[in-house]
Amino acid sequence: MNAIVQTAYGDPAQVLIPADLPLPPPGPGQARVRVVSTTVNTPDWLCTRGQPYFLRPMFGLFTPRAPVRGTDFAGVVDALGPGVTEWAVGDEVLGSTGGFPFARTAPGTFRTHTLAPVDRLARKPADLEWDHAAAAVMSGVVALQAFRDVAPVQPGHRVLIVGASGAIGTFAVPLAKSLGAQVTAVCSGANAAWVRELGADSVIDHGTTDWTTLDESWDVILDNVMVASVGAARRRLRPGGVLLPNSVGQSPWWGPLPWLAARATAGQAVRTIEHQPTRAHLDAVVQALVQGRTRCVMDGTWPLSQAGEAVARKASHQGRGSVGLRVAEG
Ligand SMILES: NC(=O)c1ccc[n+]([C@@H]2O[C@H](COP(=O)([O-])OP(=O)(O)OC[C@H]3O[C@@H](n4cnc5c(N)ncnc54)[C@H](OP(=O)(O)O)[C@@H]3O)[C@@H](O)[C@H]2O)c1
Repeated sequence: MNAIVQTAYGDPAQVLIPADLPLPPPGPGQARVRVVSTTVNTPDWLCTRGQPYFLRPMFGLFTPRAPVRGTDFAGVVDALGPGVTEWAVGDEVLGSTGGFPFARTAPGTFRTHTLAPVDRLARKPADLEWDHAAAAVMSGVVALQAFRDVAPVQPGHRVLIVGASGAIGTFAVPLAKSLGAQVTAVCSGANAAWVRELGADSVIDHGTTDWTTLDESWDVILDNVMVASVGAARRRLRPGGVLLPNSVGQSPWWGPLPWLAARATAGQAVRTIEHQPTRAHLDAVVQALVQGRTRCVMDGTWPLSQAGEAVARKASHQGRGSVGLRVAEG
């Protein structure tokens, strides 16, 4: 077995099965990477389940168009395509496969070797753990883009992070704190203590308190869950504040459509984060990790052969931090 392929939509344990795939040859401007660690992100469980249903045409109507899940990796450059001069075989890297992850030609990362365009690669420092490097590619970069570019956080800002104990939230809490913000985290009571240790000044337990009803307001609200409506969340913004709805949402049919529709008329107060794993963004998140301005928390790391369990864990919304898949030794 050198890969996990998806044969149908459904229960991750049933539809993600071991396979042997040919080694993909790197094309012009690409590197082939021997994957050490990959990570399970929201798009992976969505495509495995085939939800939200209105996105089925994007995944593939009856079966997934791209058979291998995963977009992010940390690994070792193994071969170079024509025209690639800035990387060498043996370089330790993190990166993304780039492009549309549900295209027939998308290589995926739930496999021993993948392909990446060289502008989606960054150098992995030796002291950065493999699993943390892979997890940072989406969750770390989204947190960085949120607070640095989309809704720049200033010292003294009040920042609310909903879903603070999840993959993106655990990068976001220390990042907001390092930018000088006063951070309020929303998570379950069971996760409150360690989310506070990540740097949250206060924690709201969503099991007992609906943050949208509190007499409090924030300059930036990053909502990774979107149980709250856009209207209710906006009422908790300070003047000039920004709401970042950042979740596929709760409906298995319509996913984010309700908040996307609400955003269309909301103006500058509601902004979206479009994940861009460019080399500059990857380098910036690596620096933030190395300098301790952000942190990666692993919920757990599963072997590649147990990808189904790892994807089911991610889909459960119970994860505390990032879900890793270990493919090989570094
Ligand atoms: N903008 C982009 O390009 C981009 C890229 C990747 C992902 N995303 C989006 O980001 C979202 C978060 O991703 P993630 O990987 O961080 O997810 P995750 O790891 O599954 O985390 C979600 C967290 O939400 C919490 N939660 C569940 N129900 C809640 C509720 N009712 N109120 C408050 N918190 C609740 C859970 O923590 P507790 O157990 O503590 O409640 C869980 O840890 C996804 O929906 C995804 O669509 C966007």
